[in-house]
Amino acid sequence: MSLLEVSGLVAGYGDFQALFDIDLDVDEGETLAVIGANGAGKTTLLRTVAGLVRAWSGEIRFDGTDLLSVSAHRRVREGIAMVPEGRQLFPSLNVRENLQVGAYSRRPGAWIVPRVLDVFPLLEPLMDRPADVLSGGEQQAAAIGRALMTNPRLILLDEASLGLAPVVVKQVYNALPSITEAGTTVLVVEQDISQALAVADRVLCLLEGRVSLEGSPSELERSQITAAYFDLEGRSDQHGGLEGRSDGHGGPD
Ligand SMILES: Nc1ncnc2c1ncn2[C@@H]1O[C@H](COP(=O)(O)OP(=O)(O)OP(=O)(O)O)[C@@H](O)[C@H]1O
Ligand SMILES: [Mg+2]
Repeated sequence: MSLLEVSGLVAGYGDFQALFDIDLDVDEGETLAVIGANGAGKTTLLRTVAGLVRAWSGEIRFDGTDLLSVSAHRRVREGIAMVPEGRQLFPSLNVRENLQVGAYSRRPGAWIVPRVLDVFPLLEPLMDRPADVLSGGEQQAAAIGRALMTNPRLILLDEASLGLAPVVVKQVYNALPSITEAGTTVLVVEQDISQALAVADRVLCLLEGRVSLEGSPSELERSQITAAYFDLEGRSDQHGGLEGRSDGHGGPD
């Protein structure tokens, strides 16, 4: 049975609808990468699963239980942990204290500080350092560590590699197998499509709030991904192609 089952999900902000009829399933221990252009709704999808954005309609089932009326805080206790875009560590707390924040909402389980340090050895010498002086990559490691300290069954990782040096991206992705081997399921938003295809069991592409493509990396053609990502089928001309992107991400290469 799928650990996470989303069906017919509709969500937005005020009058603005950001997600249209989203269906997705993630099996226990699986890694699903969500890709899509800026504004496609990736963060909104993760935030809706975490309970930080209210679903307008549809279903989110976690291990068979309907989550819609469950608060964000309780969802953490049920085993859903979010690593938000921008990491959002507590800036004046040091790394150890930030990890301990994760432990407050802890489910029973194997993730303890030494295990987090096994996965992210770069954090070991930084434990007493305030979060606001860490580099982007160090912050990302600390933010993932904080999420692991809740002993999640599902980790929602937004913009896993955005703004990080390639060597740090490698460290973050090298940590994934240790996370999934521990039975944790991963839903990762990744702008770098090559990276998404390399690490994920399945990839789901969002386009203007809708699922435009879904499949395993081996069954997806590069041209299909490009079309789904940039709307080359011509549903609208808002995402015209690589030159239309202003964020410095190349998209499919
Ligand atoms: N708090 C908010 N209030 C109003 N609209 C919002 C809010 N957050 C996001 N949106 C809008 O919802 C749409 C989806 O945004 P979202 O942040 O989910 O996109 P994204 O795919 O994560 O983009 P990016 O790759 O730039 O992070 C966008 O049109 C965005 O402007
Ligand atoms: Mg986003």
